[in-house]
Amino acid sequence: MADPLTIAIPNGRLLKPLMDYFSIKGIQIKFGSRKLSAVDSSGRLEFYKVKNSDLPTYVHHRITGLGIAGDDTLIESGHSFVRLSTLPIGKTSLCIAAPKDSPAVEEHGASVVNVATSYVRLTREWFHRRGIPVKIIRLGGSVELAPRLGLAEYITDLVETGGTLKANGLEILKKLADLRVRLIANPAYFKLHYREIGEFTDILTRGKR
Ligand code: PRP
Repeated sequence: MADPLTIAIPNGRLLKPLMDYFSIKGIQIKFGSRKLSAVDSSGRLEFYKVKNSDLPTYVHHRITGLGIAGDDTLIESGHSFVRLSTLPIGKTSLCIAAPKDSPAVEEHGASVVNVATSYVRLTREWFHRRGIPVKIIRLGGSVELAPRLGLAEYITDLVETGGTLKANGLEILKKLADLRVRLIANPAYFKLHYREIGEFTDILTRGKR
């Protein structure tokens, strides 16, 4: 039998819905206790649980041939991938948020808008496209604290339920982008394994095997 396809999957909040989705599609994987890799029951797919933000690096360097990640992670990495399909899980959006009654960023009086975010590339592009001068402050997490602590008037962050914003006294001013979860491939790996990859993509997007 040929070597299994290698697939990086994010070891974060997407993991549970992704494993449920695999199960619906008839892909059976059992990770041993604390184990970060596993081969599925068919022996044709080998999965690696990696940190979300590291996933593009693994696929870019062809350490794994395939990966599953959100647009936010993929775009922020700056790497190019073959985008194979979109999964119906993990839908989020990137939004600008600020404390209640803050002016829209377009109506902000100062010469530069201060924005704290973990999504620097997406945020910069959005402001640049609109010609709004912006100073971006990069944070690794807990971005919702930035306005209250006086680090920045505005934030951009992922919003799923809106619960985190609400709990921290912030409200959405504008949606910047809808973000989806994609199956991606390293371009060279895709050329070498396109037949097996096509079969895997079919299983993920169509029926159960
Ligand atoms: C993400 C995001 C928000 C939160 C939004 O954080 O950065 O903080 O989820 O979800 P909600 O709209 O359902 O409340 P995550 O939990 O992934 O951790 P992070 O703070 O490290 O980014």
